[in-house]
Amino acid sequence: MRNVHVDLGLKSYEIEIERGLLPRLGRKIKTLLPKAEKAAVITDSNVGPLYASVLKKSLEKEGIAVTVLTFKAGEESKNLQTLGTLYDGLAEAGLTRSDAVIALGGGVTGDMGGLAAATFLRGVAFIQIPSSLLATVDSSVGGKVAVDLPSGKNLVGAFYQPKAVYIDPDLLKTLPVRYLHDGLAEVIKYGCIRDRDLFVTLENIQNDAELLNRADEIIETCCNIKARIVEQDEFDNGERMLLNFGHTLGHAVEKTFHFDRYSHGEGVSIGMVLLTRQSEKLGLTEYGTADRIAALLQKFQLPVNVKMRQDDFLRAIALDKKKRGSSLTLILLKKIGDSFLQKVAFSNLPDFLPGK
Ligand code: GLY
Repeated sequence: MRNVHVDLGLKSYEIEIERGLLPRLGRKIKTLLPKAEKAAVITDSNVGPLYASVLKKSLEKEGIAVTVLTFKAGEESKNLQTLGTLYDGLAEAGLTRSDAVIALGGGVTGDMGGLAAATFLRGVAFIQIPSSLLATVDSSVGGKVAVDLPSGKNLVGAFYQPKAVYIDPDLLKTLPVRYLHDGLAEVIKYGCIRDRDLFVTLENIQNDAELLNRADEIIETCCNIKARIVEQDEFDNGERMLLNFGHTLGHAVEKTFHFDRYSHGEGVSIGMVLLTRQSEKLGLTEYGTADRIAALLQKFQLPVNVKMRQDDFLRAIALDKKKRGSSLTLILLKKIGDSFLQKVAFSNLPDFLPGK
């Protein structure tokens, strides 16, 4: 068992990482929330059929009545309409404040399940059981919960920390390979911003089988990095922004292609490389860094370039919620493992964009 403690005072919690954890979670959840008599398991149409019944059985064995609420898989479900149907499901299940909402799935499930938990009855205990690599290393940790609006991603949300995050790396075995690599882009990001050793470890991994074999230690390393950052800056006003390395350009790529050509991790992959090429040219990043990142990403079939004009980037970034006033904060690397925040006036942004 690997354990990462997230120290947030009264909101502190554990991230537990262990293969074969899922069928044993009933006992753990009963111990964590002894007053819970009911649980709503929120899941999607891909993950639910694979894993919800195992979790339900395990909870029922501990005397917890379970309602499974399943929504159609995909980012397009992460909206106020689906959230509304989840609220109806929670009300019909008769959930009370001493009960629990459990998100079983990837980033969409965790974000939307978390927002449901944060707001139903003004807050019900929330547990994350992430099933994708991206969710295990990023979205399930740190308490960001949200749904999208037609005008942008994650525009309605909250900071609402889970009571626990339970990671069973065996769940990754059923993850389609594209989404394994999607999550790997975020893993590589951690290496870039904070951990040269992690980056080198990933450089030495030859294929997906080896990656999955070493998933436990890799997830633990990433969760440790994220936990330390969130402890310093829970509400995303400073250091936590380092986690956005590659994301400003990446979101612009995702948005320009209407969120159906590139996944989140693929956008981040392109964003990390293109931004680092520019910051190398500006003398802000050690020479050769972009090529090294690109080589690692390409080994796992991640894209590192895109056909987009500078204007396309500017248009998409102008709508980005990370933009504050007339400037925005970009995350740049000094070198692999060493990152910093760079405030950039919107008028100077073209210097940091490709296509000039
Ligand atoms: N996914 C970035 C963060 O949690 O801040």
